[in-house]
Amino acid sequence: MLQQLIEKGVRITLEAEELLKNSDNKEQLLSKLYILEKPFITKEDVESALSELAPVIEVKRPSAFKSIAKEHDASIQVLHTKEVTGKSRTNGEIDDFISYFRSRHEKLAKLLNGPSKFPNVTLNEIKKYIGQTVRVIATISGKSETKKGNLLLEVEDLTSQFKAVISPAYGRDKVFEKSKYILLDDVVALVGKVQEPYLIVDDVEWPDLPITRERKLAENDLVVAYISDTHFGSRYFLEKYFDQFIEWTHGRGEAKELASKLKYIVVAGDIVDGIGVYPNQERELVIKDIKKQYDLFNDFVEQLPDHIEVIVAPGNHDAVRRGEPMPAIGKDLITVDVTSVGNPSSIVIEGLKHLIYHGTSMDSLIAALPNMSYNHPEKVMVEYLKRRHLSTIYGGNLIIPEKLDYLVIEDEPDILHCGHVHKNGYTLYRGTLLINSGTFQDQTEYQVKQGHVPSPALVPVYELKTGKLRTLDFKSS
Ligand SMILES: [Fe+2]
Ligand SMILES: [Fe+2]
Repeated sequence: MLQQLIEKGVRITLEAEELLKNSDNKEQLLSKLYILEKPFITKEDVESALSELAPVIEVKRPSAFKSIAKEHDASIQVLHTKEVTGKSRTNGEIDDFISYFRSRHEKLAKLLNGPSKFPNVTLNEIKKYIGQTVRVIATISGKSETKKGNLLLEVEDLTSQFKAVISPAYGRDKVFEKSKYILLDDVVALVGKVQEPYLIVDDVEWPDLPITRERKLAENDLVVAYISDTHFGSRYFLEKYFDQFIEWTHGRGEAKELASKLKYIVVAGDIVDGIGVYPNQERELVIKDIKKQYDLFNDFVEQLPDHIEVIVAPGNHDAVRRGEPMPAIGKDLITVDVTSVGNPSSIVIEGLKHLIYHGTSMDSLIAALPNMSYNHPEKVMVEYLKRRHLSTIYGGNLIIPEKLDYLVIEDEPDILHCGHVHKNGYTLYRGTLLINSGTFQDQTEYQVKQGHVPSPALVPVYELKTGKLRTLDFKSS
C-alpha cells in the first residue's frame, strides 16, 4: 500500500512511513496518514489515494448509528443588534471614549434602577441630602486605600463626581469585605450617608441576575457540543484527540446516543494560533500562514456530518482586530458554511439564549479579584453575570471604545459560553448555565512557566431538553 500511495503522488513523512510498515490495519493507517501529513498534502491527495484503495479501506459506519439530529431543521437566530459585526464606528478619539462610558453607565444604570428604601439621587444633587441616607448609581473612576486602611472611591455619574468611603469601622465590616470585589470601571449602586465631602457607604449592589430565575430548557431532544481554543497551526495542537472528537460526531466510539442527537457545535474563539500574537510565536507554529491555519478549521467543518451546524466566534488569537468587541471572522478565511459571529455575541439556539464570549478579560479579573484562579474559570464567569459586564476594567485588556458598549450583558442568557483559559469549568448561577469549554491545545512553554495546567480534549456536551451536561474525554477514546 505504501508503494500505491507514493505512486499516487502522496508524500510520506518518516513518521507516517513507520506507521505504514508496522501496522496492517489499513483504515487506521490512512486516517493516521492524513493526520500526520495534513499540513503538507491536500485533502484531495489523500482522498484520491483512498478512492483507489476503496475496497480495502472503506470506512464503515456502525449500522446501529442513526442520527436523530438529522431529522430536525436547525433553529439558530443571531441577535445582530447585540454585536459589533458591520457596525464599528469608532475613531478612538476622546468623544468616542465619552460616548462609550456614557453607554456603559446608561445600560447598567437601567439594570440597577429599582425601588429603594432610600431616595435615588444623582451626584449633582447629593449635597442637598447632607446627613441623610441615599442611593446613588455610579461608575467607579478611582480606587485607593487611605492611611487608616479605608477604601476611598472616586465615583461619577452622567451629572457630576463625588467621593465615597468604605470603612470596616462602626459595624461596617460586612460591606468592607464586599468592597474588595469593587473593580475600577464597575457600575454599582452605593447606599450610604452623605457626610460632605464623602458618601459613607453602608452597602454596595451590583446589577446581577434576578435571584429567582428558572432554568430554561428546549423542546427538541438535541445536543450542543461546546468547544474553544483549538489553536490550529500551533505545534501544541492535539490533532489526535481532535480527530477522535470528529469520529464521535459520526457515531463512532463511545456515547453514540449523544452523538445521534448532536445538532450544533459552538466554538468560542482562538480557532487558530494566529501569527505574531506574542513574541517569538513562530517557534511554536507548525503552520506559519494564517490562511492555511484556517484551512484546518475549514477541513474540520467539512469532515462533520452535513446536518451539524457550526457557530463560530473569534478570540484573541484570531485574525480580527485585537480589541473587543471583535467582529466575526471573515469569509476570506472561513470558507465553509458556518454561522460566523462576533465576540461577544448573542445567539438563540433551539429557543435558548446563548451568550458567547471568548473570555480575554479573565486575565485582568483573576488578577484583580479575591478568590479567583485559572483553575476555576466558572467563578470569573459568575463575576461577569454579577456585574452584567464582560470586561469591566478598561485597559485590563484592549477594549475599542465603540459608541455603544457591546460588552454589557443586557439580557439574561440561558447559557454563557467562554474559553480562553484552556481549563474546563461549569456552574449554574441564578438559572444560567456557565460553560468554559477548555481547549485542544497541549500545555505550552509559556503555560509551564506560568504554572497553568490546561484540561485538553474534554468536550462539554449539553442535552437541551433534559438539561444534562456531560463532559466527553477524547483522550481516552
Ligand atoms: Fe486560547
Ligand atoms: Fe484566548
